Amino acid sequence: MSEGKTRVSILGATGSIGASTLSVLAHNPEEFEVAALVAQRSVERLAQIALQTGAALAVVADERQFADLRDRLWGTGVEVAAGRDAVIEAAARPADVVVSAITGYAGLRPTLAAARSGAHLALANKEAMVAAGGLVRAALAQSGGQLIPVDSEHAALFQALWGQDRSAVTQLILTASGGPFRTWSKDEIAAATPAQALRHPNWDMGSKVTIDSASMMNKGLELIEAQQIFDVSHERLDVLVHPQSVVHSLVAYRDGGQLAQMGVPDMQTPIAAALRWPRRTRTSVPPLDLAQYGSLTFEPPDRERFPCLLLAETAMRSGGGAPIMLNAANEIAVSAFLDGAFPFGGIPRVVEAVLEQGPSGQAPRDPKVTLSLEEITAIDAESRARAHEVVSEMI
Ligand SMILES: NC(=O)c1ccc[n+]([C@@H]2O[C@H](COP(=O)([O-])OP(=O)(O)OC[C@H]3O[C@@H](n4cnc5c(N)ncnc54)[C@H](OP(=O)(O)O)[C@@H]3O)[C@@H](O)[C@H]2O)c1
Repeated sequence: MSEGKTRVSILGATGSIGASTLSVLAHNPEEFEVAALVAQRSVERLAQIALQTGAALAVVADERQFADLRDRLWGTGVEVAAGRDAVIEAAARPADVVVSAITGYAGLRPTLAAARSGAHLALANKEAMVAAGGLVRAALAQSGGQLIPVDSEHAALFQALWGQDRSAVTQLILTASGGPFRTWSKDEIAAATPAQALRHPNWDMGSKVTIDSASMMNKGLELIEAQQIFDVSHERLDVLVHPQSVVHSLVAYRDGGQLAQMGVPDMQTPIAAALRWPRRTRTSVPPLDLAQYGSLTFEPPDRERFPCLLLAETAMRSGGGAPIMLNAANEIAVSAFLDGAFPFGGIPRVVEAVLEQGPSGQAPRDPKVTLSLEEITAIDAESRARAHEVVSEMI
């Protein structure tokens, strides 16, 4: 990373992670400057933050919004562009850190472009890692860029592994809040409405990841993300429900000790760590006052009431195309649920149906072999088509 100001690009600048990143930057104006900002279609907000941060470039993925963005930033000196290729170019622009925070599989190609650029990759977009972790890691290895996780659990694991004897690690334990339905019965969960599922007890996040938290698919995706980021076997990964979201994850070592990273649940903390790692940056997050919490509680996850977790673990063990299918089916099912015409209990059923079918025309292969982008794209497309069919059958 260069001396002086750290140049930051934010892919998904108008979202929840984008907002937390901008808060960190606003706290430390002497430390950062903005290279590029990317959004899908929220041009009013994009133009506003481009002006506030003095960004060099603002890109909107939806080309229909180009004229609006151009007019809003006319004469300001901010370069503007639109379209999917422009998003890729923004991701590849010279920067010290690229925050990858587009939601879903749509973030994969921009994330790969950032990984190829040699910048540090501050990764929030877990779906990219689930679908194509091998490709992202290979791109980073080739460019010399470093992946620094932003997802709070992976940020915690990253910090608890830093400088430690990796051969002595016995387990990576991801904590989970349990979401809004932690104490609900299976039938109550199956009949939950979007409004109920969007009410997360501890975290204020975008709608997709909030629904995933309610189904615990989020934790399943995070297990696969951890497998990819830390290159560990699935046997060494586990989940622990911790409703207060203060302990963000733990690493167990063979001497019997465990290292945890803790803090008030606020994404500014892992983002701040990722932006200048291993240096620490100020945030507006209050210090953790454990006395105020009084007690922290822990319990095992219930895979019977949260079958999405079990499905993700099965996909993780299978490897190969299974995580891609899991992710694609889940994105379609979550979107149908958010549209209001599809039950919450249908989400695991769609995922299961797609996983059962398996990718067509593919000979069984070693799950450790990295799939090409073309293969990943084909499996993703086929899984989405199948998921749409299953959703239609269930409505
Ligand atoms: N929020 C959290 O606390 C949190 C925590 C850990 C991990 N994550 C992960 O971080 C990622 C982002 O989550 P979020 O909660 O910040 O989501 P979000 O609030 O929905 O924001 C998504 C951002 O991505 C942009 N975007 C969506 N599709 C795009 C496309 N095709 N091309 C370009 N930009 C696109 C959106 O632009 P528009 O505003 O124009 O739609 C928005 O800026 C997800 O993978 C999530 O799992 C989030």
